[in-house]
Amino acid sequence: MITVLFGPPGSGKGTQAKLLVEKTFLPQLSTGDMLRTAIGHETSLGKKAKIYMDKGALVPDEVVIELIRERIGARDCQKGFFLDGFPRTLAQAEALDVMLTGVGKNVGSAVLFQIDDSELVGRLSGRRTCLKCHSMYHINTNKPKKPGICDKCNSVLAQRDDDKAVVVQNRLKVYHEQTSPLIDYYKSQNKLVTINAALPSELVFKFLVQALGA
Ligand code: AP5
Repeated sequence: MITVLFGPPGSGKGTQAKLLVEKTFLPQLSTGDMLRTAIGHETSLGKKAKIYMDKGALVPDEVVIELIRERIGARDCQKGFFLDGFPRTLAQAEALDVMLTGVGKNVGSAVLFQIDDSELVGRLSGRRTCLKCHSMYHINTNKPKKPGICDKCNSVLAQRDDDKAVVVQNRLKVYHEQTSPLIDYYKSQNKLVTINAALPSELVFKFLVQALGA
């Protein structure tokens, strides 16, 4: 099962991907997490990506396409995976289809996390992320047991640089301009599944599992 999870920043893709991993044991491939790991290790890729991410802009297609190409060849991806945050442009979606076709595979479903922009600012400003395992929390709706500490690995939680208000506005603009065309792309392939991402997390997960037959 190869599933694309896409939607605006803060719509819950990462939260639901982690729940799907626990249920299916298939891996989550998050280009955002891969890029943040590269930034943390101060690699040349990380230094380049940071310039775009700090502004809320997309990292160039060829960079993320290469990251995904390398990752999907790994052994743990052979039975399928959840793509979280990739593809994000038509060029990325087309490149993904070409690389999967080349190995006799294809995207099964593309899940759109649908939610109004007005709901997203509060979610992102209150989000806290584990610097080590990338688990997500929220200061009001999904608190860790110990304030500022990850329940799963005991590392420190921090606010992402791109969750500051001015950057969030740009990320939303970029989503509507560059990523929303994927709705028609996957609709035309009969692969689009739309989920109401404004519901509480448990309900989103219930409908997601039903829709995917996971
Ligand atoms: P990325 O890390 O992919 O960020 P994003 O797509 O903007 O999505 P987020 O991680 O912000 O949100 P999410 O939908 O995962 O929501 P979450 O579950 O965390 O990308 C970051 C940057 O990297 C990009 O801007 C770009 O620069 C670069 N990049 C990455 N991929 C790229 C690509 N393919 N091409 C080019 N550049 C790329 O939830 C958010 C908060 O809401 C949390 O606090 C959570 O607890 C809470 N929450 C979740 N669900 C619910 C719910 N149902 N109800 C209430 N609260 C909820």
